[in-house]
Amino acid sequence: MALVAGTVLLGASPLAQAQGHQKPKAVIDDWVWQHTENPYGPGDTDALAEGRRLYRATCYICHADTGSRGPNLRASKLDGQAFLKVVIHGRKGTQMPAWKGKLTEDEMWKILAFVKAPVGEP
Ligand code: HEC
Repeated sequence: MALVAGTVLLGASPLAQAQGHQKPKAVIDDWVWQHTENPYGPGDTDALAEGRRLYRATCYICHADTGSRGPNLRASKLDGQAFLKVVIHGRKGTQMPAWKGKLTEDEMWKILAFVKAPVGEP
């Protein structure tokens, strides 16, 4: 067991050193996903209501009901993790901000569930 642990440590240290010499990346792509698909669906009225509240508080100022400064998210072709990736990292060079550290993954899934729900729901 000690031998195995030693091997792992020896194997890991050159990588850690190499990373220490790398320039910090502007886009951090190290998201550890909790869900591969949206755990909330159109029947989860509590999650939809929370998603609606969050959308109003954080996204509405730019995306409004059918788009304004940002596009109409109800019409977006993005879904699932592709949608969340934009929310997590934002879009560099545009006004779309990164929400990493400001919203949890759970909150992002709820916003997505609200955006994908039929207009008027919940
Ligand atoms: C400060 C304004 C602003 C805020 C706030 C904002 N967005 Fe955006 N968003 C934009 C803009 C502008 C774009 C278009 C970026 C581009 O040109 O690719 C965009 C694009 C997107 C896209 C890509 C849509 C597509 O089909 O390509 C998603 C998804 C998105 N926003 C989600 C959100 C969510 C969810 C929130 C709230 C948590 C949010 N945005 C808050 C401005 C904003």
